[in-house]
Amino acid sequence: MNYNIAVIPGDGIGPEITIEARKVLDKIGEKYGHHFNYTEVLMGGISIDTYGVPLTEEALAAAKKSDSVLLGAVGGNVGQSDWYSLPPDLRPEAGLLAIRKGLGLFANIRPAVLFHQLKAACPLKDEIIGEGFDFVVIRELTGGLYFGERGTTTENGIRNSFDTLRYDENEIRRIAKRAFEVAMKRNKRVCSVDKANVLDSSRLWRQVVEETAEGYPYVELTHMLVDNCAMQLVRDPKQFDVILTENMFGDILSDEASMVTGSIGMLASASLGETKLGLYEPSHGSAPDIAGQNKANPIATILSAAMMLRYSFDLEEAADKIEGAVKTVLEKGYRTIDIMSEGKILVGTKKMGDSIVAEI
Ligand code: NAD
Ligand code: IPM
Ligand code: MN
Repeated sequence: MNYNIAVIPGDGIGPEITIEARKVLDKIGEKYGHHFNYTEVLMGGISIDTYGVPLTEEALAAAKKSDSVLLGAVGGNVGQSDWYSLPPDLRPEAGLLAIRKGLGLFANIRPAVLFHQLKAACPLKDEIIGEGFDFVVIRELTGGLYFGERGTTTENGIRNSFDTLRYDENEIRRIAKRAFEVAMKRNKRVCSVDKANVLDSSRLWRQVVEETAEGYPYVELTHMLVDNCAMQLVRDPKQFDVILTENMFGDILSDEASMVTGSIGMLASASLGETKLGLYEPSHGSAPDIAGQNKANPIATILSAAMMLRYSFDLEEAADKIEGAVKTVLEKGYRTIDIMSEGKILVGTKKMGDSIVAEI
């Protein structure tokens, strides 16, 4: 089969990690007789430098036309880069928000799995880790604070800013359904995370999640307040199967989830909507501090490519193959700097990618 993939390398380490994921996909193509055609699309800072905007209409159209999108990361050093003197909707991250919205990708799936080979890279104690853990964060991606009305004004010489957190019941219901469907294929437990003790939007969230749960009698639903969840993720991450939450809480909790899996460099993600077209991206950013140094861990991006094969192309066996190859390489002791521990073999981005390719 032929598959058309729009590749958005983006900024910082983005180009280094997407090239490794492409190598892996090419090897999969060779092995299973598929052909992946890549169309490079500019987004983020590089698009600002070239076209003056973080996402052109042509770039969005190219993504829409593709079978699937692979993204590295966008953005620069928020304190220092010139991109951040631009108005907010012209900054690199605005491109990412626009493509998510433009493609209708309301469901962000971020699986947090501690590979047993990486126990030493996990900052938690052995007795907490136990046999390891495997949960998934399902984050609403096109609503909430990120897309609400915002503004900054000066009144009587006092600067003031506001951001609005708004959800309607349909937005909540569709992401809740997605979480229950994912849970049905896993351990059938959903923990919905909110701040219902303070926020109206969270109270509606809780009600609609409860109503949605009635359609999934085999799934156990619990609720947790977000501050408690942040604590529980390091106290006992094994308790979770599916964490369902809104956009901003999901952003924060998924970075926390990534660290308990050893490193942010390990956390893959899929952003999905109602069709097969998805956007696959690591959960981490453009890591300007290590960009261009062959230091970045490409595994989150490679595992995101595996998610693409599974969710967008139904190539289950090929996806399993990639995940297996990642485990084998970790078993053999190869480590990028972020997951390095005593007695292991330190490798760079390229060598990590090549080693995974060699195991396919
Ligand atoms: P970041 O995730 O880029 O980096 C945080 C820390 O983790 C850094 O020390 C970095 O070196 C390290 N790190 C991240 N990915 C790594 C990898 N693959 N291998 C090894 N180490 C890795 O977060 P930040 O520094 O807060 O943000 C930097 C820029 O990235 C900002 O402009 C931000 O807006 C952007 N960002 C983009 C995305 C995205 O495109 N999806 C996601 C998050 C942040
Ligand atoms: C992520 C990132 C983005 C987000 C930023 C860069 C807009 O942090 O994908 O987690 O907050 O969604
Ligand atoms: Mn984030």
